[in-house]
Amino acid sequence: MTAETIPASPEALARAEAGCTRCPLYRNATQVVPGEGPATARLMVVGEQPGDREDLAGRPFVGPAGRIFDAALEQAGIPRKDLFVTNAVKHFKFARRGKRRLHQRPNAGEVDACKWWLDQERALVRPAVLVAMGTTAIRGVYGKAMTITSLRGKTAYTDDGTPVIATIHPSYLLRIPEAGRRQQETDAFINDLRRAWRLARTG
Ligand code: URA
Repeated sequence: MTAETIPASPEALARAEAGCTRCPLYRNATQVVPGEGPATARLMVVGEQPGDREDLAGRPFVGPAGRIFDAALEQAGIPRKDLFVTNAVKHFKFARRGKRRLHQRPNAGEVDACKWWLDQERALVRPAVLVAMGTTAIRGVYGKAMTITSLRGKTAYTDDGTPVIATIHPSYLLRIPEAGRRQQETDAFINDLRRAWRLARTG
């Protein structure tokens, strides 16, 4: 990426993303869901892709996974308004089942195509720390497949030296049936966010 391709503002970037045809996902989605937050954010949080609610609202993390994310941020003492919150993939991928639109995980080609936009968001915001929530986000950040377990609990770095805190995706917590384990995983997720926030403010 050259300096000329770095957008002037999150709004300018969102306008460019709205015209994206880099992969087929734009065809069925309602709209693009750009990253959201101040261009001066020190912490950038990357999720997977917009869900049904996000696709309709045009904003990231406003549905069920967003509620889990917001609650974890509150517990960690992190104001969401200070974060740049985005996704590895900017259009909702789904399968229709009657009236419902069921989430489908984006494939590697879609994540890699959308890395173009994630890289521009990173170039614009230049966050001190990145949080990658889930394996899709990790692929978006690193451009290759890596497991959460290989990265979790330590501070890893991107090629440009930005620290990355890898953690679970909040929707994973929604799928844990057993309350004790769900609480354990929730606490670990909150800890990861807390560590990232501390690093972003001091690093
Ligand atoms: N899940 C994500 O990864 N991102 C969203 O914006 C919503 C749900």
